[in-house]
Amino acid sequence: MSGRATAADTAIQVIGCGKTFGGGTVALEPTDLSIAAGETVVLLGPSGCGKTTMLRIIAGLESPDPGGRVLFGGEDVTPLPIERRNIGMVFQSYALFPNMSVAENVAYGLRVRGVGRARRRAEAAEALALCRIADLAERRIDQLSGGQRQRVALARALAARPRALLLDEPLTALDASLREHLRGEIDALLRRLGITAVYVTHDQAEAMTIADRVVVMRKGGIAQSGSPQEVYFRPADRFVAEFVGLMNRIDGRLRDGAFDGPAGRLPLPAPDRPDAALFFRPEAARILAPGATCPAGMAVLQFTIARVQFLGDRQRLILEAGGPQDAAPAAGARPVVQVDADNRGTFAPGQPLMLAVATDDLLMF
Ligand SMILES: Nc1ncnc2c1ncn2[C@@H]1O[C@H](COP(=O)(O)OP(=O)(O)O)[C@@H](O)[C@H]1O
Ligand SMILES: [Mg+2]
Repeated sequence: MSGRATAADTAIQVIGCGKTFGGGTVALEPTDLSIAAGETVVLLGPSGCGKTTMLRIIAGLESPDPGGRVLFGGEDVTPLPIERRNIGMVFQSYALFPNMSVAENVAYGLRVRGVGRARRRAEAAEALALCRIADLAERRIDQLSGGQRQRVALARALAARPRALLLDEPLTALDASLREHLRGEIDALLRRLGITAVYVTHDQAEAMTIADRVVVMRKGGIAQSGSPQEVYFRPADRFVAEFVGLMNRIDGRLRDGAFDGPAGRLPLPAPDRPDAALFFRPEAARILAPGATCPAGMAVLQFTIARVQFLGDRQRLILEAGGPQDAAPAAGARPVVQVDADNRGTFAPGQPLMLAVATDDLLMF
């Protein structure tokens, strides 16, 4: 595979690229993004935040507003159309030719470039093997499942030995179990090839699995860029905190060096503020036995169990802030914690629940 790796080690730089569409829609504010050679960057964000626009600018399917530039391996490719950038693309809709066989689809791009027949066959066979669909080579596209079609699209994108692979929600059209399986395979493949890859998704679990680096986007800009762990444990702002993973939120106010909320009063050295919100991950919370004292370095929060959800391997406790008497109607999503399945029967609605959270794991923005 070393021949592939050399073709694939292209760094990508997006410099001051914005995009305003006709009618004045700003899809992307002027944005910088540097992608190292061989790095897998995932653009993650809600629908409409500009992920596809960013990807299409990198691909050369869209030109940035004046002033924006795109570099591949230090070379300015801004004026080059997609066919001269040598990138592979995979879309949510497979965009395959239904009247051609799998092998013909995969070899198509090579044929367009005038690659000879023997080499076309060899390259296509290798790409099919990489995507574990060598046995499907002679099938017609309409004889394939959705997962198999997406493997064909991936093999087609890889066959021409692109400098970078760009994927736009490649798994969104597939059902949940297949999506999880294929995302593992794509992750393994990207690692094996060491190819520079930009992967767009709105699914945070998918992003965390595949990314070397997650770039969280919001409203045409970058909200945070960091490793999956950084984005998860040290979200830059409220938006990232609530978008990535399960996050509990308690609204209250800061007064006299303490946070006052429906789950209790916690010492918190911060300036007074009438509308503060405290965040913590469900797994950061430890359930305290009734009457237990607060462990050092932790804060105690008082809840009532509102509902117990059965998740198979786990149970999710949906909580209301406050003790049984003063449980306030929750504004927005209720806090949750998850417990192992062997706790079945231990928890019931109406019970008080005391949580201890390390003060380091309490986030405020
Ligand atoms: N060709 C276009 N013309 C006008 N507006 C567009 C066009 N493409 C995208 N947009 C708008 O730009 C914004 C960002 O779109 P997009 O990049 O597709 O977001 P995402 O991929 O994150 O869902 C959206 O508001 C979308 O409606
Ligand atoms: Mg999109």
